[in-house]
Amino acid sequence: MNWDLKNKVAVVTGGTKGIGLAIANEFLSLGASLIVIARNGDQLIDCLLAWNEKGYQVKGIVGDLTDFDNYPSLLQKIDEEKIDILINNLGGNLPKKFIDFSPKEIDQVFNLNIISNIRFTQLLFHKLKASQNSCVVNISSVAGFEDVGTGSMYAICKASLIQLTKSLAVEWAEYGIRVNGVAPWFTGTDRINQLLKNEELENFVIKNTPLKKIAQPEEIANAVAFLAMNKSSYITGETIIVDGGFLANQ
Ligand SMILES: NC(=O)c1ccc[n+]([C@@H]2O[C@H](COP(=O)([O-])OP(=O)(O)OC[C@H]3O[C@@H](n4cnc5c(N)ncnc54)[C@H](OP(=O)(O)O)[C@@H]3O)[C@@H](O)[C@H]2O)c1
Repeated sequence: MNWDLKNKVAVVTGGTKGIGLAIANEFLSLGASLIVIARNGDQLIDCLLAWNEKGYQVKGIVGDLTDFDNYPSLLQKIDEEKIDILINNLGGNLPKKFIDFSPKEIDQVFNLNIISNIRFTQLLFHKLKASQNSCVVNISSVAGFEDVGTGSMYAICKASLIQLTKSLAVEWAEYGIRVNGVAPWFTGTDRINQLLKNEELENFVIKNTPLKKIAQPEEIANAVAFLAMNKSSYITGETIIVDGGFLANQ
């Protein structure tokens, strides 16, 4: 067993920005071939050009993973017979007080953070099973473990994803499919770096993080890569917290 992802085919949802892009880059450098899904076609093309230049094998699919009517055509585009790795990276927050969420906004947050991950994982089940040695890695959040001030709707969804990771690990073990997760804290993606321009917020994060720095997306991707490798073959049902010690400090 090597520390690499050679001969593995991985699907990365939202692999054109932030943590998903870091995961895609890490997987490619470790020898995987990829299928990357995102909505913005221009951004996807830019990523594909950069990857092609490096000789990497990547298929890009433009699609909105919260549009479930679109799933049959999405499956047609993923014509690979088997998939070895599924990275459910899709997610995002709509920070609001519980009482202020409209029914439409509740649907929106749940669809993006949990329902799409459930539906997409179901969609790929037969391809994951065909691999006979496959895995799913769900990107949740420290917000799924404790209240960290990100609002209840996002937290509920991420807690569900952590429980899905455990339940599915048990249910799918018989098919040789491991299911794990990674739970980040504030991570320096373009989106979060914008938020951290607020000095008060940045100081709060640094002060409460024992390692005294904001995570880089690559630091999340490293943990994801380990869970996707055969090197982690006896780990399933686990969510690794990658938070610079934040939760341990509460
Ligand atoms: N960054 C953090 O500090 C942090 C902390 C804890 C947990 N997380 C979790 O980590 C994951 C990634 O977060 P991030 O900050 O890296 O996100 P991000 O920078 O906003 O990137 C999101 C990616 O997903 C794609 N995407 C968004 N909605 C989509 C949809 N409906 N269908 C298909 N693709 C879609 C985006 O591309 P398009 O816009 O082109 O679709 C983009 O590639 C999320 O699950 C998030 O909850 C992040």
